[in-house]
Formats: sequence, structure tokens, C-alpha cells
Amino acid sequence: MRKTILYLTALIALFASCTKSEKTYRIAVSQCSEDIWRDKLNNELKIGTYFHDNVELYFASADDSDEKQIEQIHQFVDDGIDLLIVAPNQVATVSPAIDEVYDMGIPVIVFDRKTNSEKFTAYIGADNFEMGRLMGEYIATQLKGKGCVLEIMGLKGSSPAIERHNGFEEAISNYPDIKIVASLQGDWTEESAIKAIKAYKGDLSNIDFVFGQNDRMAVGASKAISQSGTKYCGIDGLPGEGNGLACVRDSILDASYIYPTHGDEVLQLAINILEGKSYDKENPLMASLVTRDNANVLLLQNEEMVRQGNNLDQLHLRSDAYLHQLGNQRIVLILAAAFIFLLLILMVIIYRYHLQKARIQEERTQMEREQLDFYTQVSHELRTPLTLIEGPLSQLAETKDIQEAGAEASGLFAIIQRNTHQLTQLINKMLNVQATGSIDDLTASQQETSPIAKPAETEQALADELSTVLIVDDNADIRAYLRTILQDKYQVNEAADGQQGLAIANEIVPDLIVSDVMMPVMNGLEFCQRVKSGTATSHIPVILLTARALSHHQVEGYESGADAYITKPFSADVLLARIDNLLKSRHQLKNLFGGENLELRTEKYDNQSSTAPYAESNHTSQFSPLSSQLKEDSFLIKFREYIEKNMADSDLSVETIGAELGLSRVQLYRKIKALTGQSPVELLRTARLQKGRKLLQTADKTVSEVAYEVGFTAPSYFTKCFKDEFGISPSDL
Ligand code: FRU
Repeated sequence: MRKTILYLTALIALFASCTKSEKTYRIAVSQCSEDIWRDKLNNELKIGTYFHDNVELYFASADDSDEKQIEQIHQFVDDGIDLLIVAPNQVATVSPAIDEVYDMGIPVIVFDRKTNSEKFTAYIGADNFEMGRLMGEYIATQLKGKGCVLEIMGLKGSSPAIERHNGFEEAISNYPDIKIVASLQGDWTEESAIKAIKAYKGDLSNIDFVFGQNDRMAVGASKAISQSGTKYCGIDGLPGEGNGLACVRDSILDASYIYPTHGDEVLQLAINILEGKSYDKENPLMASLVTRDNANVLLLQNEEMVRQGNNLDQLHLRSDAYLHQLGNQRIVLILAAAFIFLLLILMVIIYRYHLQKARIQEERTQMEREQLDFYTQVSHELRTPLTLIEGPLSQLAETKDIQEAGAEASGLFAIIQRNTHQLTQLINKMLNVQATGSIDDLTASQQETSPIAKPAETEQALADELSTVLIVDDNADIRAYLRTILQDKYQVNEAADGQQGLAIANEIVPDLIVSDVMMPVMNGLEFCQRVKSGTATSHIPVILLTARALSHHQVEGYESGADAYITKPFSADVLLARIDNLLKSRHQLKNLFGGENLELRTEKYDNQSSTAPYAESNHTSQFSPLSSQLKEDSFLIKFREYIEKNMADSDLSVETIGAELGLSRVQLYRKIKALTGQSPVELLRTARLQKGRKLLQTADKTVSEVAYEVGFTAPSYFTKCFKDEFGISPSDL
């Protein structure tokens, strides 16, 4: 996830940077003067930028002033330009300023006019010497090698003026009959030519040709001289009304030379330099002669170019608008991407928050579980010794010694009792609400079952054979304490763990079992389950006596088949009452033969299942009292059927019956006694007598015949037993 966020950030950054990745070049254009030729050049430079988005042009015109140009160049440098394009007004004065720029590492393109040093990056422009020479050749040809020529020169000290003059002179020198009558000084303007001619002292009437170093000065001369027969020619050949081309077309000038501007090429050269591409230091531009023959065509061509230029302008405007729109869309896109990015981050944060929350919750639950287990463990450890303090204490309280002890001893005894009780309360508080609930239950059950069995019943229990209780607990103190509680009323047996308990239970088949839960080797839950599953022991009530006080512990206990669940520390009275109660509430079948019908009893349980014990519990198990009763009933049915079938056999013994039912003699005896209150032998005799009575009533048989038929070996003994059972003699029937 972290990686995805990184990629996304990088992508957005890249995307955002794409909006303005190229460096913007600041190019300064320093023009020596302001006129139509330079306007044309500036315009071409501007159009050139249409093809280069990363170019910004800054223009300045020196208005033919060296000082102004020097100042402007300095200003450009201060503004931090990347390249200077310059047409120096005069060579000597402006050159040092240009050299300075070059020395600063700023590339310099010199165009049109030159400097007097080599400190420039590139030069672009037409060959002014060659133009002067060609113009000289043209005039010589027109004059057929003979005549007078007047030259009007451009600004003194400017390179084109010098070079054009030199070229012109060289050409004319080849024609001895052509004489340059004067080279007057102008400054490239029309007015300067007029002024120069007016100041001229020589004879103007014999001038055949005037060579103005540019068209403007040639036109000025024509105006100043104003005589037929004199011809004029200049240089520049600019389009537009009143300019060179139109003047040639209109015969004001005889010829002109197109002095190329080519602003687009100048700009391209600048960009090549700035971008480190290859370029030439010298970049000559081609020039061409304009006469009446081609002036019109050139004008038309120019018009076409102007038209195309306008179209280009339109296109540029439209593309500008599109670019602007694109820019806006890009911003929207970046914002949308940023929004999605933020949304993603937010989602990640929320997701991680939830993960963390879940983890904390899980940790907390785990901690609580561990805490609970710890408390349970600790409480178990504390409850056992507490039981052994509290129980014997309350027994001691009943003794004569304590009751008759002095006030001081009784007071001390009361303190011990009170604090023991308080300690028990504190331990209870350590457990959670569930634990508290189970303690309340215990208190409630204490009230329900108190007071303990009446003395008459105890006597009855003593009169009979004492019931057997098996204590299973790994703590010898607890076993000893329980023995002291139980031994008066019951025959007590002990076992130290579940395994031992199971062996003893099978051997002696006790009437009731009291078992701890947490024990080594085999715990109380498994022990209880196995007691409830064994044929010999399934009927035995089991009380789980444990420190595991939480309700889910109790549920576990009942699910293992326990009949009662008492938590430590416990009250001896409650335990006794519970044992007594369980023993008394056994569903003993008092009259297996001829009495209550077992099948009917089974049906009764079926119908009453909703009100049967524990039926309301959510935790029904295979060991519920109802299913246990059904199990015991079916055992009894099996027992009864076997006896009914085999009673004629006088040798039928308890061992045989036990073997048939998978029990030993003792097991059968104890189980049958527990379930019916009678021994198997008694039951066998009762069965025989009942059958005998029935036979005597229905069949035409003698007492002896009947006695033998129901398994008695002596009719006299049958008669005795019959009398004991029914109070009448068999012969009476
Ligand atoms: C324009 C101009 C042209 C001439 C050139 C020489 O400023 O005067 O007429 O050809 O400069 O640099």
C-alpha cells in the first residue's frame, strides 16, 4: 500500500511538472534605430516565437543614439537575459558594451551591422560590401561605362555605410569614365539626404546617377535634386506603399536591392545557440536586385506573404486559446488526481484505523480471558485453603469448648470467623459478574435446602445400612474435611483423582459421589461423564464441588452429567442437605413386579418432558436426569424380563443375572438396591411369589405344582414366603 502511494505521488509530481518543464529563454533584441526595415525584422522575430513556446522576447530601440543603445544593453544584462541580439548603431562606440556582454558569458548575435571585435557568438546578415559592389556594377552598366555618380552614405561609423561604400568604390574603379563626384554624408534617413544635397556646393546638373546607400536616402536625393535625366537607386527594397519596391515600380527609383531581414532565421540561430545545437558563426543572407521588371511581382508576392502571415497570426491566436484551455484542463486533471490521491490516503488511514481497532479489541479480549483464567486459578488456589479454614471454624463454633469459652476467647473466635468470611467475600469480588451470579445461586440454594434433614430421617438412614458416599478430590485436606462432615451419616470412601475414583465407583457402586473438578490424571468432568456412561454406575448421583465458579464452568459441569454443582468455599450444611436431597429424590421403583408399570413410567416422562428436571436449560445433554432415568428404566425392564423368563429355574442366581446384564454380583446388588430399594434376591423372590399368586388364581394347579413352576425347590418354603408376602396362605386361593 505504501508503495502504491509513493508511485501515485511520483506520477502526480511528474504530471504537474510536465506543465512547465522547458526552460524559458529570455532573448533581448537591441535595435539601433526604429524604422520600417526594423519593424519588419521585429515582426518576423515575433512570428518565429510561435514555433517556440519557451522564448520570451524583449525589444529596445536606441533611436540612432550610441549612448542610449549602450544604456539599453546594460539594462538588458541587469534584467538577466539569456541571449542578446544586437545591431550596433556605430561600430567604435557600441562595440565595447557588446564585448562586455559576451565576456559575461551571455551569447551575442550581431545582425545587420557589425562590431570591431571578434567578441560575438554569431553574425547574421547580408554582405554589405557585395551589395555596394553590385550596385556599382548596375549603375556602370546603366551608364554604359560613362558618366557622373553621386553617393549618399549612411550613418558615419556604421558598418553597412563603410562596407557599402567600399564595395561601390571598388566596382566603379573598374570604369575609368565614371566619376564619383562626391560621397555625401547622411544618416540613413530621407531628411539627412535632403540636407546633405542642399549643403552640397558642387554642380548637381551633370549628375547621371545617385546611389543612396538605402532607399530612403535615394528618395530624399530625388526630392532634393528634382531634375529629369538623373536616376536614383538605393538599398532595402522594402514592401509597402512609399517604400523601395513601390518606388521602383513607380519609377521614382531606378533600382533597389533587397536587404533581407529574415527575423525567423535570426531567432532560430538564437535558439540553436541556447539549446547547445550546432550553428555557424557567420550566417550570410542572400540579397537580390529589384528593377521595374520584377518590382510588381515582388510586391504581389509580398502581399501574399502578408496574407499568409495574417492567417498564421489567426492560427496562432486559436492555438493559443486551445493551449490555454488545455492548461485549464490540466489543472482540473491535477486537482482531480490530487483529490483521488487524498481520498486514497484517507481510505488507507481509515482502513488502518479499523485494523488497529480490531487488533486492540482482540488483544483486550485475550487479556480479559487471561485475566479471568488467572483469577479463576487464583481463586481456586485460595478457595481450597479457605474452605479448610471456614468449614472447621463453623464446626468448632458448634462445639461446647467454644460456646463455653470466656468472653475474650469467644471474641477472638468471632474475629477470626468474621475475617475469614470477609476474605471469602473479597475473593468472590475478584471474579466478574458471572462469578457473582453463581455465588448468589449458591446462597439461594442454601436458603432453599436449609434446614438439614430431620433427626427422624437420620435415624432411619442409620437403621438401614448406611448409604455410601465416594469423595474424589486431589487435596487430602479437603478429603479429610469432607470425611468429618459426612462420616456421621454415610459410609465414606475416598479417591485422589478421577481415574482412581472411577475404579472405586465401579467396585463399590456408591450411592452418591462428591467430586472436585480440577484434578490431575483425570479431571472431574471426564470422571463424571464416565460414571454416567458406565452400566454399573450410571445411576449414581454426582455432586461437583469446585472453585470454578463462573457460569460457563457450571454449564460444563452439568453437561458432563453432574446432578449438582457446588462452589468452594461451601457450607457443610448445604452439602449435607444436597446429598440427602439427591438420595431421597431418586426415582426408586418400589414394586418392580406387579406394582408400578415401567413402560407407563417411560411414557409419563415423554409427555412431561417439558417440565422434567432441567428441561428449561439451554444446555441439554445426554446426561440430563430425564435421559438418565429412561436409561435406568430400560435397565430395569431388561432385568425384569430376564427374571420372568427364567424364574422357573430354581438355580437362577444373582451371579447369572448379573453376568447377563454385564455386572458383577456386587454391582448388580448395589445398582438394583439403589434403583428399587430392594436386593436382587428379594426381587427374584417377589417375582416368583407374584407369578405363583397369579397361577393359583387363574390356573387349575396345586400349590406344589405352582411352587415348582415358579422356581421354589420346596413347596413348604413357598407357602411360608407366600404367607409373609401376602398375609394369606396359598391354599386359601
Ligand atoms: C534601417 C537601415 C536600412 C539600412 C540598414 C543599414 O535602419 O537604415 O535602411 O539598409 O539600416 O544598417
